Amino acid sequence: MESDIAKRILAAVKRASHEREQVQIVLKGQYLEAYELLKDAETAGLTPAIIGPPGVGKTLLCRYYAMMTGRPFFWVTLDEGTKPSHLIGSFNPAVVLEKGFTIDAFEPGPLTLAMVTGGVFVANELNRASEYVQNVFLEPLEERSYYIPHIGRIKADSSFFFIASMNPAELAGVHRISEALRDRIQVWITLTYPDKDTELEIVRLHCREHYIPDDVLEKIYAIVARTRSHSAIEKPASIRATVSIAKLAAEHMKREGSIDDEELGRIARHVLIGSIKTRPGVKKEEVVNSIIEDVLKAKEAIG
Ligand SMILES: Nc1ncnc2c1ncn2[C@@H]1O[C@H](COP(=O)(O)OP(=O)(O)O)[C@@H](O)[C@H]1O
Ligand SMILES: [Mg+2]
Repeated sequence: MESDIAKRILAAVKRASHEREQVQIVLKGQYLEAYELLKDAETAGLTPAIIGPPGVGKTLLCRYYAMMTGRPFFWVTLDEGTKPSHLIGSFNPAVVLEKGFTIDAFEPGPLTLAMVTGGVFVANELNRASEYVQNVFLEPLEERSYYIPHIGRIKADSSFFFIASMNPAELAGVHRISEALRDRIQVWITLTYPDKDTELEIVRLHCREHYIPDDVLEKIYAIVARTRSHSAIEKPASIRATVSIAKLAAEHMKREGSIDDEELGRIARHVLIGSIKTRPGVKKEEVVNSIIEDVLKAKEAIG
């Protein structure tokens, strides 16, 4: 007899597998350029990496690329704890006891699945993995095949496509990329925070159900943009933060009919406090407050 929670999990799995992936993206400026580069790299048989700070749309762009080319999408986020088996798969010990090291006992990992189904595979934060794990990718990239002990050599489907994604090397906690792997990545695509028009279009796309006046959006963008040029900030606010502030502001306007600078500042504070990282020795609250005050005062003076 299935428990209630088991039934719910099964139903959720069914829902997820029936949902066709619909990726919404603003494809202009740097995103269009990066998309075209991905296409050209694949056609030319070259392996690309996308380099950029967190939250600039690296994963989204790859997901969109997979959708547009009608392929399944697989991704892993690597770190110091990632093991080769997390990528390739492993044998289920219970089944091995019963049947031995047969294909039935093998549970494929995302890299194996992407190779055999001809999917798009993204290795997020590739430079955070140990060199040992980075080297797992050498054979799939070079030979488009991989040897799995007890099973044999598997050959990648011809539409298997590998994309690496990385934060710029100066961010903390990042290993270097191994020389051998660097050598097999030939196209380096950089993404950064988008220009104002593109970012506001992204925000509008994510807030389609809401009405947000232009002047409010401008203020939100100005606050977020300031975190990206501030010398005391190590990790600035990403597009997610802009979208979150806009959504909260929209909810406030829906409830109250309007929003003033004081309320907008309060909302921005609630989002920024958790989404930025300041340099050691700097008080985050003070930096956030001064940015919000400066921006809103300056806007008031103009407006
Ligand atoms: N061009 C874009 N169009 C629409 N949404 C975007 C775009 N770029 C980024 N976003 C949004 O920003 C957020 C972060 O994107 P993500 O791909 O997860 O970033 P990254 O992988 O670089 O950390 C997501 O919510 C995503 O939908
Ligand atoms: Mg990502």
